[in-house]
Amino acid sequence: MKEGIKMKIVKVKDYDELCQWTAKQILQKVRQDKKLHLGLATGSTPEGVYQYLAEDHRKNKTSYRQVFTYNLDEYVGLSADHPNSYHYYMNQHLFQKIDIPESHTHIPNGLAKDLSAECEQYEALIDQINGVDLQILGIGTNGHIGFNEPGTLFGSHTQVVELAPSTRKDNQRFFDSLDDVPTHAITMGIATILKSKQIFLLATGEHKANIIKRLITENVSQDLPASALKLHRNVTIVADHAALSQFDKDEVFGF
Ligand code: GLP
Repeated sequence: MKEGIKMKIVKVKDYDELCQWTAKQILQKVRQDKKLHLGLATGSTPEGVYQYLAEDHRKNKTSYRQVFTYNLDEYVGLSADHPNSYHYYMNQHLFQKIDIPESHTHIPNGLAKDLSAECEQYEALIDQINGVDLQILGIGTNGHIGFNEPGTLFGSHTQVVELAPSTRKDNQRFFDSLDDVPTHAITMGIATILKSKQIFLLATGEHKANIIKRLITENVSQDLPASALKLHRNVTIVADHAALSQFDKDEVFGF
């Protein structure tokens, strides 16, 4: 049996449909369970999802006053007000646009004096709630989730990691130069992510087609961090046509 059989795949037409579908699922959960513990991701992929949530909040006043959020990762060395920090990203794209209390939002502190104590505290926070209710993930072109690069142990917890050269290059577009891209980050570990009760992995665009093909067809291996998701019972890959373009139509629907 292919391990991939356990992952559900939602095929959407394009990026806008991916964002709408994901936002709708999140909104359903927020409305059902006011005390939702929501795991959030950064990067370009979820930007449109956050836009839909912000728009819904403006129009329908969906409230996040009792929601708690937990971000996957943060660069080491960037402050919350640095435009390239994930703190700043979350404030700009979501937190300032909804009514969530700041004290309910959690993001690792990349400026902590004692980074290992920071990681331990962050892991303990997630343990306290027995894992988040829903975790949103993107995927790196090398298969990373959070900042768990190829080779990361599946038993890993929140930790400081060194970014792979390919990840720094991929993320260079947000910075002035490659030298400005931090070399390290704090990230939830793979085991931390697997504690989530439900996971959505979002993929859009042709540049993700190769890694999505690998994720769906290859066996579980530490060389492909996202393949750890095949060990989880409730993972949905939400991918658009471009991200699934390395499959024949029938092949994809067969999973
Ligand atoms: C970063 C983040 C990941 C994200 C990935 C993909 O490295 N740490 O959490 O999933 O990039 O980003 P994008 O959505 O911009 O392709």
